[in-house]
Amino acid sequence: MTETDSLVSHFECYDCGATYELDHTEFPCPDCGGILDPQYDYDAIDVSRDEVEARQDSMWKYRELLPILDTDDIVSMGEGNTPIVDCPDLAEEMGVARVAIKDEGQNPTNTFKDRGASASISGASQQGIEEVAIPSAGNAGQAAAAYTARAGIDCHVVLNYQSNDIQKTMVEAHGADLHLVDGKLDKAGATFGEMREEHGWYTVATFQTPFRHEGKKTMGLEVFEQFDWSGPDEIFYPTGGGVGLIGIWKAYQELLELGWLDDETPPSLHVAQSEGCAPVVEAIEEHRERHDAWECPQSIGRGIEVPDPGASPWMLEAVYETGGTGKAVTDGEALQGALDAARHAGVEMCVEPGAALAAAMQMAEEGAFDEDDEILIINTGAGNKAADALDYAIE
Ligand SMILES: Cc1ncc(COP(=O)(O)O)c(C=O)c1O
Ligand SMILES: [Zn+2]
Repeated sequence: MTETDSLVSHFECYDCGATYELDHTEFPCPDCGGILDPQYDYDAIDVSRDEVEARQDSMWKYRELLPILDTDDIVSMGEGNTPIVDCPDLAEEMGVARVAIKDEGQNPTNTFKDRGASASISGASQQGIEEVAIPSAGNAGQAAAAYTARAGIDCHVVLNYQSNDIQKTMVEAHGADLHLVDGKLDKAGATFGEMREEHGWYTVATFQTPFRHEGKKTMGLEVFEQFDWSGPDEIFYPTGGGVGLIGIWKAYQELLELGWLDDETPPSLHVAQSEGCAPVVEAIEEHRERHDAWECPQSIGRGIEVPDPGASPWMLEAVYETGGTGKAVTDGEALQGALDAARHAGVEMCVEPGAALAAAMQMAEEGAFDEDDEILIINTGAGNKAADALDYAIE
């Protein structure tokens, strides 16, 4: 065994505060159904931020802040460590000092979901699990299929028929067991719940496994490092289940706790959603602490078409504590956002991050930013994941 020097100590339920040992495999919280969150002994850190910065590997450069104890359990393909791409034309158009894109499309399966898959499949390996299951809009299922293939773990992926051909094909290419259900993501989730009960599957679903959002957290850790340990002023995130948004919020809190931030003011975290499915934006507009489930979700960005995100209280905490906002855009505006990134910055985006760029551009038009503001858009997935949709928008 080679120790990772992880500072992880236990899991704690975000909702009821119950604590569990690291070998606990019953997710979510058996007491209340809440989210289990890894906790760390930050005082025991014996690496400096400069030493971490000098590491050039993957998201696992932050291994002290990830919940895996033995390097043999790490399932990695070099995910993370993605670039910040400056977009001076967009900055000029928006009248701000800087617009940059964190390009998560450059991950092994072309989305930020690889971070969650790397962490959750490493977690499964650490817990001695040989078979896992996941419901997904498409990208997370593809990522889980890739990482389980690498780890030699069996994987069941529940997708909707509407998931795109790349996602469905690659799940099977990796040798995972693909189940297609009709309806939308909530139907896949419900079917998954029934199948899980019947087969006793170990879940790597969003906010069920405590490992997955920890992987997404590394996106936030990298952003602070890449912005000279102070962060941009505004971050726009295409929000579905909120895993990445909460990950960035947790990254900020950890770096604050470690004393690694030069500027302790958090970036404002902005939730971008689709007008056809905007439960979190609606809750922000009404300043509520929890969303109401969205009736009849309709969005071309399937990853942000999440009508009933269980982690909304945690997302809303992140937005309110950082002075963020919520903005919903139409499908047409999201597609235009993706085309704007492609045409003005060369960056290939799928539809969901297109919504984030469109939201930022609309807020710029409304005069929401100062001219010295630095704005970061999270490009959660590459354009090739949505080539058909983009083709539809090209005039
Ligand atoms: C490309 C893309 N962007 C954004 C999201 C939403 O992610 P989160 O669950 O972190 O809100 C997804 C989730 O499926 C996605 O595939
Ligand atoms: Zn609980």
